Amino acid sequence: MLRRAIKAVLRNFYSFAIRGEEESPGAGRWRDVTAHFHSGWQLELKEWMRVHNIQDDNAFKTKHDMDNAISQDITGNDPIDFMEFGVHKGAGIKRWMGLNGNPESRFFGFDTFSGLPEAWAELPQGGLDVGGNIPVSDDDRVEFVAGLFQDTLAPFLETFKLRNRLVIRLDADLYSSTLFVLASLDRFVDPGTIIIFDQFSYLPHEFSAFVDYTRSFYRDYEVFAYTHNLLKMTIIIK
Ligand SMILES: C[S@@+](CC[C@H](N)C(=O)[O-])C[C@H]1O[C@@H](n2cnc3c(N)ncnc32)[C@H](O)[C@@H]1O
Repeated sequence: MLRRAIKAVLRNFYSFAIRGEEESPGAGRWRDVTAHFHSGWQLELKEWMRVHNIQDDNAFKTKHDMDNAISQDITGNDPIDFMEFGVHKGAGIKRWMGLNGNPESRFFGFDTFSGLPEAWAELPQGGLDVGGNIPVSDDDRVEFVAGLFQDTLAPFLETFKLRNRLVIRLDADLYSSTLFVLASLDRFVDPGTIIIFDQFSYLPHEFSAFVDYTRSFYRDYEVFAYTHNLLKMTIIIK
């Protein structure tokens, strides 16, 4: 009788303890809480890969291969409005100017040209500084906009009229920069808009910014192409 009563008390105690743990997963020690959050983005990426059927067999080897595939299969030599966020010395935007020779295409490159506004990975704030030097080009289809996106993009968009399929290349590394750009450009994002990421799987930056943007703005999309490590990712808005 006594043994049965003790067992019942213990059963209630354990079920309470388990329920309590499930209901407030952050209720443990601080170390447990940070471990919980750390693995969160990895799990989110893993689940995202499952939902979008990401297969290593379908991956491209390099970003050049991926860019060539976008150009061959989608944009061809049709006119595009190409915007690159994070230009540095201009390698990426110039490669795209080479891929698309249509005289009606327009290329816009945005950067501080004085480095990253925040530290990122192993780079300090101000890393990737090119001393204010804007890339030189004799192609009159290109325009560079110097300054923080947070200062330059809104005034730029006040007069901007979209003329062609929009191709957005996000190569600014940071969560803040990436999310700011996507949210600011949302009203220009139509079905067929192409979004190219350069550091997609670098958690918790471009991937988290993309997830937060698509969830907050109810954006649907399909995955078009990616490289093996998922750093380079191409999305097409539905
Ligand atoms: C990895 S580099 C770009 C590389 C370049 N796309 C290429 O293909 O060589 C990242 C650039 O993003 C710029 N950047 C990041 N956040 C920015 C922001 N909020 N405003 C302006 N520039 C930013 C940095 O100044 C840096 O030059």
